Amino acid sequence: MPPRTSIEEFRELLKSSNRVLALCGAGLSAASGLPTFRGAGGLWRNHEPTSLATPTAFKRDPALVWLFYAWRRHMALKANPNRGHYALAELAKKKDDFLCLTQNVDGLSPRAGHPEAKLKLLHGSILDNKCFNDNCDYIDRNNLSDPVCPALAPAAEDYPPGQTIPLLDPYVPAPSIKVEDLLHCPQCKTGLLRPGVVWFNEPLDKQMLADIDNWILQGPIDIMLVVGTAAVVFPAAGYTQQAIDQGAIVAVVNPDPESGEGLIDEDFFFQGDASELLPKLFEGVIGKMDEHGKIL
Ligand code: OAD
Repeated sequence: MPPRTSIEEFRELLKSSNRVLALCGAGLSAASGLPTFRGAGGLWRNHEPTSLATPTAFKRDPALVWLFYAWRRHMALKANPNRGHYALAELAKKKDDFLCLTQNVDGLSPRAGHPEAKLKLLHGSILDNKCFNDNCDYIDRNNLSDPVCPALAPAAEDYPPGQTIPLLDPYVPAPSIKVEDLLHCPQCKTGLLRPGVVWFNEPLDKQMLADIDNWILQGPIDIMLVVGTAAVVFPAAGYTQQAIDQGAIVAVVNPDPESGEGLIDEDFFFQGDASELLPKLFEGVIGKMDEHGKIL
């Protein structure tokens, strides 16, 4: 039997639920104009985005990795939270025992007013800068400068719609940036600063993981919401199974029909855009939302 698709049935379930866990991914921010990692977003210049998101890539070419992140950062700062972010933030305010785990580093959930205690930034924040030196713990949180430093100005330039952005054109040589002009650590004075995101081959924050495990193990979970994620990166992708083990009914929100594979008949699959679907799905708890994300 395929999973359920009835919005009404989901609303009833959500109203009567106490413990709700959400796992979000890049698809949540798609309607804000930010590219996802896999699929449509494609290559950045001629690089696979995931090949730039590693400590090895940063060691090899810190200027190239910074250009990539400075551009993503510029996009994130220019973007606005969408109705999906606002709906989740509102649900967090209404449900005492709701926890949202996001893989997104774009800062849009915090900017939508999602209560901090109910939001775990699994992969860090692109607005934080931290020292690349293993033995230095310097971190500059929520740095909103754009460009992040003068040398990275080419990644923060806007062009008229329709015009190819030179930085994104692999046939236009990348701006040459000297390593000494990148941000350096004011604490240890030796390390380069790097984006405060989790890269491949890096562990997630231990305390955060322990806090999430504690929350999960506190008791049965009623609903596991899986929003806009390909759910292929671990440990994030593993939380769905952990919630199922705690009794959760899974509800997937994603335009890709393949993301509903593996769901059983008591689960839900809502095929479509998270910014449209989440306000509808949560309406019984958060009320009606206008097109700007305000509750009416
Ligand atoms: P992906 O790019 O892998 O997947 C995005 C998902 O969003 C896909 O399943 C799309 O079908 C779905 N999607 C697209 N548009 C959507 C919309 N409007 N509404 C809802 N869903 C939509 O992104 P993530 O799963 O977030 O990690 O990727 C996980 C991690 O892989 C990222 O955090 C990043 C990356 O490498 C690190 O950098 C460590």
